[in-house]
Formats: sequence, C-alpha cells, structure tokens
Amino acid sequence: MEFAVSLEAPEVFACDAIGVGIFADGGALEGPAARIDKALGGLLSAVLAEEKFEGKPGRTLVVQTHGRIPSRRVIAAGLGPKTTATLDHLRQAAAAVVRQAGQIHAAHAALAATTLGALPVDAITQARVEGAVLGDYRFARYKRDEGGRVSRVTLLGSEPGQHKAIDDGVARGRVFADATVLARDLVNEPPNQLPPVRLAEIAADAARGAGLRCSVLDVEAMKALGMGAILAIGSGSDQPPRTIVLEYAPPKAKRFVALVGKGVCYDSGGINIKTQDLEWMKSDMAGGAAVIATMQALPSLRPAVRVLGVVAAVENVLSGHSVKPGDIVRAMNGKTIEINNTDAEGRVILADALSYAAQQQPDEIIDLATLTGSAMVALGYVAAAVMSNDQPLVQRLLDASHQTGERMWQLPLYEEFLENMRSLVADLRNSGSRYGGAQKGAIFLREFVDGRPWAHIDIAPTAFLETDEGMSPYLPKGATGYGVRTLLTYLSARPEDR
Ligand code: BES
Ligand code: MN
Ligand code: ZN
Repeated sequence: MEFAVSLEAPEVFACDAIGVGIFADGGALEGPAARIDKALGGLLSAVLAEEKFEGKPGRTLVVQTHGRIPSRRVIAAGLGPKTTATLDHLRQAAAAVVRQAGQIHAAHAALAATTLGALPVDAITQARVEGAVLGDYRFARYKRDEGGRVSRVTLLGSEPGQHKAIDDGVARGRVFADATVLARDLVNEPPNQLPPVRLAEIAADAARGAGLRCSVLDVEAMKALGMGAILAIGSGSDQPPRTIVLEYAPPKAKRFVALVGKGVCYDSGGINIKTQDLEWMKSDMAGGAAVIATMQALPSLRPAVRVLGVVAAVENVLSGHSVKPGDIVRAMNGKTIEINNTDAEGRVILADALSYAAQQQPDEIIDLATLTGSAMVALGYVAAAVMSNDQPLVQRLLDASHQTGERMWQLPLYEEFLENMRSLVADLRNSGSRYGGAQKGAIFLREFVDGRPWAHIDIAPTAFLETDEGMSPYLPKGATGYGVRTLLTYLSARPEDR
C-alpha cells in the first residue's frame, strides 16, 4: 500500500473512494463531509438519513457520486460522538474505509481531513496510516485468490501548512504498521514452515537489514550457558531450540531496556498433551514475534534507548526425548524447577531467557508471552494482562497502551501466589493450582529477573483472534501483532529519549 499526501479540497480530489468521518452527534454535517455534501447537492446527508447511519465507530456507508464530484464514491465512516472520539476511533475509521474500499475493488482511496480536539495532525495521520495498513492486512501467502486490495491511499490536508506534519505522520505510521504486519505474518505462518531455526534465521535477516546486532545461541551455546530450562522443553522435538539475541545500541543511550519474548513455535502441551486449542498453537510464539518486529523497527525511530531483545524459540512436542512431568531442570540463574506440567512450558523457557536478559543488567525488563489460558478467561480477547514488580513501569506501559488502543489490564501479584509455586523437591514447580493462573505464571517468572524492575504482559488474550466478531476493523481474524505498537510507543515516548 502506497501513501500520498494532497492539499486539494475533498470535493475536487479524484479517486475511487473518498473516506469521510461522520460524528454520531446527529447534527448537520461539518468540515469535509459538509463540503462534499454541498458539492453533491445534499445527496450525502440525504442517504445518511435514509439509511439511518448513526456514525457508530467502525461502521461505513458507501454513496455513489455519479460524476457529481470527481471521486466515484464517498465512504462515510462513523467516529462516534465528538466528545468521546479518540485517536483509536480515527484508526478504526481508516481501517473500515480501506476494508470497504477493498471489498468494492476501489484501488485508490483517500481519507478526507479530520480534526479531533487539539490532537496534532502528525498523530492523527499516524493513527490513520496504521488503521489503513492494518485494516487491509491479510495473510495470503498460501492462497491463490487474494481478493480486492487498496493499492494507494491519499491523505488529504485542510491547510497549506500541514504538509510536513502529514508527511511525518505517514512515515511514523508506516514504521509502526509495517512492524505490526511483520509480527502478524510470523504468527500466521504455519508451524511446519517456521520451526525455531527458521524463526532465528528470519530474525537475523531482519536484524541485518535494520542494522541491529544479532546473535543466535544454538544448543551447544545454551548448554555452555547453563540454560537447562529451554533445553529441557526443546528436547522432545526434532527441531532444535534457539535463543535469539538482538541489540539496538544507539551512541547516546540514556537507559537500557530488555525485551523478552516467548517463542514457542508450536505448543502441543507435551506429555500433558492439550485436548483443545491445538490448531491455534502456532500462535504461541507471538511474544517472540512482537519482540523481533519491535527490535527491527527501532533503527527507523532512533530512540536514545539501548534495547536488548531476547527470544526463546522452541517447539513443545512429544517424543521419547520429551521432558516428563516430575523432571527437575536447572535454569541459567541456578534455580531448579520441577516440571509438574509440561504444558506450562512458556514460563520454563522464559526462566532462562529472563535470566539471560537480567545478566546483561538492564534498567528494566519487559516480557511478552502467550502464557496462560487463565488470562483469556479473565479478559476475553480485548485486553492483555500486565503484572509487575514495579508500579511506575506499569503506569508507563499503560500510558503507551492508551495511545495505541492495544488495551492492557493490570492483575495483582500477591505473595501468596508464590507459595503455590513451591515444589517439594525443587526450588519451584512450574504449575500451581488452577485459580489465579495468570498471576501464578507471572510470579514464577519474577524469580528469574534478579530483582530488576520488570513487567510481564500475558498476551494470550489478544495475540490471536479465532473470530473478529465485534472487534475493531483493524483486527482481522488470526494474528493481531499485539504489543508491537505499544512497545514502539513506549520506547520512543519520552521527549528526553529522542
Ligand atoms: N500457550 C499456552 C497458553 C494459551 C492457551 C495461549 C490457549 C493461547 C490460547 C500455555 O503454554 C499453556 O498451555 N498454559 C497452561 C498453563 C497451565 C498448565 C498451568 C494453561 O493456561 O492452561
Ligand atoms: Mn502450554
Ligand atoms: Zn504455550
């Protein structure tokens, strides 16, 4: 998808379909919608009224213009009431317009200017570009028929001075959206095409292309480091595990953040074999994909933050070599783990990945993992669960998530949860009783961060959608790329870091 910028008025601009935002306040049309309506002799307002278009977020309505303005169609897109409209409503509206345009084979779409309170034009533009790219997304690598796609989107400005701000927003939106698309593609890729070794190759290629440092730890290297936890989980598969290490190190870094991702390329549960969700378990590397996608985008945004990315990539399957319930393994930080449930593999591999990250002495550690069904039970598909030993860090992540629309909800880490993770025979066991499952998984992870400020984001709820019913128009079925935009926002947020 290509983006262009134009300062032409919406009623004279020519394209296949021009999107125009409609607020749900019921009054007369304003701004570009009013100008288009006037040029159409009142057709737009008449059709909106006849079709009872209420301006609900995500809804669209197509109006044919029959030559009365140069653009062939107007796509009205709901923004909700003006007083509650946010950047995410603009993101959703852009996605809805592009999706609708694709369905009616309109190759060139435009988005008429919209103002929203005091929001700067570059932020508005960024959100719309993200919406357009992510709304148009599909994973079509293995399909013969791709369907209609929008190839060009023109963003219209309303004032002569806006060109630069729109250009900046397009550039930033592209980086955010393209990184999210990379994460989606990696997660949607089937497990037979993306074992740990392949994931590591792709990460290394992306790192090389972006100018990051990259090293990939193979089985020998992990043995040498004492990563007994990843190795135990990986032992059941013919596909060997890898630990992928990426680093973005700008010259004048003011802080040092480590990102850690769960990269279970396929999770069968192991000997505690799953009875449900098996067909979705290619998505169990979504945390790792988010870390890789975020890392490769950092050089384009140039934040003054050193960032380490660590992804534990492994397949959790069955064979005579599989780890068994009752086995005890030693993680890189020396702590022993009784593996009493082989399906709680994520926390086991993260024990080593977090230990490795902590050993590099970052100021803070953020991990992303499709860790528990329990988080999904709590939050459905609409928010990830965040748990942490550092409240200011949580607050900063929540602030970033408010900007991106990638919702996050904090769950408490009560000390009692740790008691439930103690083993009779080892320092810890990897599975406790069922209740509070997301928090028990998190508090287990806390044992491997060496007391550093750390936040765990359980993205099991949001990483992969079995259905898109009721979801935002930029979230199609399948992988969502959740977390990438929030991490990029977080890492490039503070003005002092730029
Ligand atoms: N990858 C799963 C969690 C998951 C389940 C993600 C469904 C997305 C959809 C994870 O490895 C797992 O199996 N967790 C167990 C932990 C339990 C055995 C302590 C779970 O949540 O049931
Ligand atoms: Mn599992
Ligand atoms: Zn898993």
